[in-house]
Amino acid sequence: MLDQLITELRLMSKFWSQFVKNLDPYIPGEQPQGEIRLKLNTNENPYSPAPAVIEEIQNHGADRINLYPDPESNILRSTIATYHDVDISNVFVGNGSDEILAFIFYGFFKNKKNLLFPNITYSFYPVYAKLFDISYQQIPLNNDFEIDLSLYHNEDSAVIFPNPNAPTGIPIPGKKIEDFLQDNPLSIIIVDEAYVDFGTDSSVNLVKKYKNLVVTRSMSKSRSLAGLRVGYAIGDTTLIDGLIRIKNSFNSYPLDRIAQKASVTSFQEDNYFKETCKKIIETRNRFIKALENLQFSVLPSGGNFIFTQPPSPLSANTIYSQLRDIGILVRYFNQPEKLKNFLRITIGTDQQMDLFIDELKKIINQ
Ligand SMILES: Cc1ncc(COP(=O)(O)O)c(C=O)c1O
Repeated sequence: MLDQLITELRLMSKFWSQFVKNLDPYIPGEQPQGEIRLKLNTNENPYSPAPAVIEEIQNHGADRINLYPDPESNILRSTIATYHDVDISNVFVGNGSDEILAFIFYGFFKNKKNLLFPNITYSFYPVYAKLFDISYQQIPLNNDFEIDLSLYHNEDSAVIFPNPNAPTGIPIPGKKIEDFLQDNPLSIIIVDEAYVDFGTDSSVNLVKKYKNLVVTRSMSKSRSLAGLRVGYAIGDTTLIDGLIRIKNSFNSYPLDRIAQKASVTSFQEDNYFKETCKKIIETRNRFIKALENLQFSVLPSGGNFIFTQPPSPLSANTIYSQLRDIGILVRYFNQPEKLKNFLRITIGTDQQMDLFIDELKKIINQ
């Protein structure tokens, strides 16, 4: 009886505060649990991590698993510091870059007068802003779907954008970011480099010069570790200390032992990492040509995905559904209006993308 009452109350969301009722949570891309022919919807890497990373997990994943992990992830942070030629005090690690972005919103953007980000961008940004009750302004992309940094100039503001942008994939050249940093010394600037390893200029080398810059990185895409949930940020020591203060007020152990060890090994296997990134870039360029041969228009991409519009009268939504019916997942955003005729397609292996093109041709010609 009591159980039934509790269930009923839950169903009625009786205990939700008004705040929870008003939340508008992020909707992640579908993660089907069964077999799927082609999963090209959440920008994962088609290649497995380096064999040494798998070996580390298989052979040492259970070592000392009865003990809490290092709360500071010191070995991993110092490995990342060496890799990027910065000090360990410039490195923060988190449970996916999503967690780090959440800490950044709370720690650096709360109570800022002007938080600016693009109107078409990673859709978690407005979700975090609402979660932490942060007001923000979204700056429109230009007619070519590019981020125009000249529109973000503001005294004492906060700016966040991905490079390359998502879901468009369009990269911003490093020189433009440096010019922007030079013009905006009083604002905190966050560059979200989740996809940077696929041919986009990184801003990590600017962190030493610009104390107001934080760069976030993900191990989920280029390092094939989406299932492990590891991200990191590089920034000035004081900014990193701010993030550490938030982490230690929320969860002291965001990275488990396995995640810390496997990530260290991933950085040691640099040749494998570079080779897989190169393969994906090559496949992406081939795939773009194949789509263009079918009269699709494709935005320039510096990521492991492309954003494409079918030729009229074909509709992106219909193609998305027809692909789905035959077990091929891509991402379709039904809003905002400007994106309604686009598909975002993750780059898989050559073989996968060839299969995709074959199936797409069948759909178009039916
Ligand atoms: C632009 C952007 N930033 C950050 C993330 C988060 O990545 P993760 O939490 O897996 O590191 C994503 C994931 O899709 C993304 O698209």
